[in-house]
Amino acid sequence: MTFPPDLLPLLLRTSKLAALTGAGVSQESGLRTFRDAQSGLWAQYKPEDLASPQAFARDPKLVWDWYAWRREAVKAVRPNAGHYALVEIEKRIPQFTLITQNVDGLHRFAGSKNVLELHGNIQRVRCSECYTFAETWGDDSESVPKCEVCGGLLRPDVVWFGEALPRDSLEAAVEAARTCEVFFSVGTSGVVQPAASLAYAARNRGAVVVEINLEPTPLTPKADFFLQGKSGEILPALVKAVWG
Ligand code: APR
Repeated sequence: MTFPPDLLPLLLRTSKLAALTGAGVSQESGLRTFRDAQSGLWAQYKPEDLASPQAFARDPKLVWDWYAWRREAVKAVRPNAGHYALVEIEKRIPQFTLITQNVDGLHRFAGSKNVLELHGNIQRVRCSECYTFAETWGDDSESVPKCEVCGGLLRPDVVWFGEALPRDSLEAAVEAARTCEVFFSVGTSGVVQPAASLAYAARNRGAVVVEINLEPTPLTPKADFFLQGKSGEILPALVKAVWG
């Protein structure tokens, strides 16, 4: 794989890099992206119709079951070469921040340390009323498990459409984007705010923007480098080309 000649020396001398990842990074682990068609019994639903407070209020069991299915799907997969390449990049860049929209936890599982989970983590479950986290819960197939503290319905600790992102993570992500020398946007369609604005925040502060995606996105015309292809192939090749 060949890279634009000026990209490699740039990365070699970069001391501060922020990387935003989306579902595309986990696709090669076997997890469907958000815009991929849903499969099996969930094929009749669009994620947007399940991942919202309104959907949970309307039919909590349907939403709970969808996330239980997704938790099992995540448990069955492993990080791919793209996740591990980002672990390697973190070891070589003095100030590296990994900002992810993914809720599958695969970056941490692969060994990434400084990870900001903007949209939460599907493996964590909390009370929808008092926010108490639940380590275990009943597996009653008829109803959604309830909080042991207040009796409220349990829900996944992820950000649903229309909900606010965790403030600390978002503030840290904006700070990382505004102060980095290079910003990677990897495997994200760049259509969901506020995550999609981070690349522009970086660019507006003079950062070099590198996009890695199977196909062009709204960001592509504004990116300094567009590396088209699979992140699980491009990222490891980039690590080898820059750091040997
Ligand atoms: N390598 C690189 N890019 C890939 C790969 C791959 N192997 N496979 C898919 N892609 C790209 C697609 O071209 C697409 O641009 O990954 C992107 C996935 O886009 P989405 O499915 O929209 O996922 P994402 O961008 O993470 O969605 C953002 O929207 O639905 C909400 O909260 C949800 O976190 C999610 C957010």
